[in-house]
Amino acid sequence: MYQAMFRIIKKRNKKEKFIKSNWLDMSAKIKSSSIDVVIGDFVIGNMGGFENKFLKEIKRVLKIDGNFITRMHYRDKNKFKTADYYKELEKLSDMVKLKKISIKEASSYFAMKIIFSDKSRKVSISLHLEKIKNLVKEIKSKRDIIIKKIFKQFKKSWWLMKDKYWTNYEKKALEGMVKKHFKIAKVLYSHDYDMAKVSPIYLLKK
Ligand SMILES: C[S@@+](CC[C@H](N)C(=O)[O-])C[C@H]1O[C@@H](n2cnc3c(N)ncnc32)[C@H](O)[C@@H]1O
Repeated sequence: MYQAMFRIIKKRNKKEKFIKSNWLDMSAKIKSSSIDVVIGDFVIGNMGGFENKFLKEIKRVLKIDGNFITRMHYRDKNKFKTADYYKELEKLSDMVKLKKISIKEASSYFAMKIIFSDKSRKVSISLHLEKIKNLVKEIKSKRDIIIKKIFKQFKKSWWLMKDKYWTNYEKKALEGMVKKHFKIAKVLYSHDYDMAKVSPIYLLKK
């Protein structure tokens, strides 16, 4: 995502404006029925209880034939499981060695595994501290340098967010909320990372 956005931004239209606002209330910055497309990547899980307000606000700013394109993850224990944390790191380490992903990507995939394979609706790294402590011991006792690097990067990029909570609804509950405000016109799944199995991209229409 980061790499794709970085490519796009180089060719950006000079008329584009940067606006900093709050998804839950953009009324001071964005007029109703004025926007063709809203794109939001993994945003609804951040709305913790305000999902309806969020969806209503997006609907408000969109033109009548506007589109909301958004990737949303849902909870499905059968499709997205965490086995053993160390085994997850071994799999990621192999991918790094094959140059399929970078250390930074591996650390994010690892964080996602920890956070989103949880069975609860509210998910957070802080719920897994005990398992992470044991993992640290295991990493120390082994010799895989790449695993050490992935874990170091995980701490650097994700530790500051360890107390943050996301909401991870089941698919039915998530789509039920969305359907109150939008028609689901298309659902696409990518296949290039594990969490993609539970993170479709939705094309939503008013
Ligand atoms: C999963 S990130 C996705 C970020 C971006 N789409 C990307 O791909 O880099 C979700 C982002 O939503 C931001 N966020 C959470 N609540 C928000 C709100 N009410 N208004 C605006 N942004 C919010 C978070 O700070 C976080 O940066």
